[in-house]
Amino acid sequence: MIDDLIYISKSAGEIIRNYFGKNISVEFKSDVKNLVTLADKESEKTIIDFIKKKYPSHGILAEESGQQGNDSDYLWVIDPLDGTSNFAHGLPIFSVSIGLQYKNEIVAGVVYDIMRDKIYYAEKGSGAYKEDVRISVSKKSKIEESFLVTGFPYNINENPENAFEKFIAMTKASRAVRRLGSAAIDFCYVAEGVFDGFWEVHLNPWDICAGKLLVEEAGGKVTDFFGNKIDIFNKTILASNGIIHQKMISILINN
Ligand code: IPD
Ligand code: CA
Ligand code: CA
Repeated sequence: MIDDLIYISKSAGEIIRNYFGKNISVEFKSDVKNLVTLADKESEKTIIDFIKKKYPSHGILAEESGQQGNDSDYLWVIDPLDGTSNFAHGLPIFSVSIGLQYKNEIVAGVVYDIMRDKIYYAEKGSGAYKEDVRISVSKKSKIEESFLVTGFPYNINENPENAFEKFIAMTKASRAVRRLGSAAIDFCYVAEGVFDGFWEVHLNPWDICAGKLLVEEAGGKVTDFFGNKIDIFNKTILASNGIIHQKMISILINN
């Protein structure tokens, strides 16, 4: 099935790439910060049509169209375009993210970094890969030398979970904190050791599913801010190389 995930992520990514930089319609979802475009919708339709044709009995949870079919052990969890704001403003950092669960456990995940044309994939128990090269998390142990990434939810004006305070504290404690705008790509960069850690206060299942498996299969750790195990329906997430995890937890819970 991993070949199918890779194939359909790349096909959807190609649709998005062809729209990039063109003047396509942008609509607001919850508010003016939260966008959706024709590219999100076409990408999602392409992915769902493929799954329905090849795996008609499987369940699907997709960002733009919600859940369909819930009596299967399989659940495809789809972010058809992660990084829509970047896409809509012409910043080439966005991805397609597809995870596959079997009996509520993530068994496969793929993130396609569209403009770099890089595919990241993992299967449960088989390691994480970028293209065909195995990847692993960093070995950085000093929080003051760590390179971190985060993101902010669309309801940031309400400062959920003290997102701003956490950002300030992490920025002071580390070498630097970045905000790329695609959670799926943030996970990939942790998995390949570019970033040593990634946290976010409010994510959705389609942001988490593929990325969580990628980081874990690359030897890293993914929990909530207290170090508890999470499933894809958890909102707060902390992903790291494992070594600096506890240090990040103490910053997150104290701010
Ligand atoms: C968003 C991106 C962003 C993160 C937001 C997500 P979207 O996803 O992953 O990096 O900070 O929380 O909602 O809306 O572009 O698919
Ligand atoms: Ca997303
Ligand atoms: Ca999206």
